Amino acid sequence: MHALVVFETLWGNTEQLAREIAEGIGVESTEVMDAVSAPAALEPDVGFLVVGGPTHAFSMSSQRTRESAKQQGAVNIPIRGIREWLASLSSPGRDIAVATFDTRITSPRLPGSAAKKAMKRLVARGFRPVARPETFGVHGYSGPLADGELERARRWGEQLGADMAPR
Ligand SMILES: Cc1cc2nc3c(=O)[nH]c(=O)nc-3n(C[C@H](O)[C@H](O)[C@H](O)COP(=O)(O)O)c2cc1C
Repeated sequence: MHALVVFETLWGNTEQLAREIAEGIGVESTEVMDAVSAPAALEPDVGFLVVGGPTHAFSMSSQRTRESAKQQGAVNIPIRGIREWLASLSSPGRDIAVATFDTRITSPRLPGSAAKKAMKRLVARGFRPVARPETFGVHGYSGPLADGELERARRWGEQLGADMAPR
């Protein structure tokens, strides 16, 4: 089975986690792609999808919040994020497991989660959730990741990979 991890990042924190999660999943082939290059129709051999992005304004980013990030010093502004990618994603028409994650500032802890919103869209499209939406903490808007989050991401990926393994 192939796994695909799709991420969005402006400062690089979510990408670091996506790569760590992919390592943890440990399926023979786990591809990592950003939301700009991810396809609207998943390859037929993809059986597990993980989607991660930063929480902006209590939800997934939008063009407006990405513009605001630019004003706050983010250099790499993607032309589309997971919100737009999910909107373009076709219904799988077969069983595909899905998990979502996001990044959020550790302090102050704000309500709202991009991962929860993304999961809602994916379930509405017919994907099968296999884990609760997960959140990883960053210090401030630009990061770095909070202590221990890379290791936790690795373990989360390992757990997902174990749950996906054929019994
Ligand atoms: C416009 C904007 C709005 C944000 N809104 C929130 C928010 O509602 N809650 C939160 O926890 N973090 C918020 N953040 C912080 C982002 O979650 C943080 O920048 C992101 O997790 C960093 O990940 P990245 O390096 O992958 O872009 C916001 C950041 C920006 C730029």
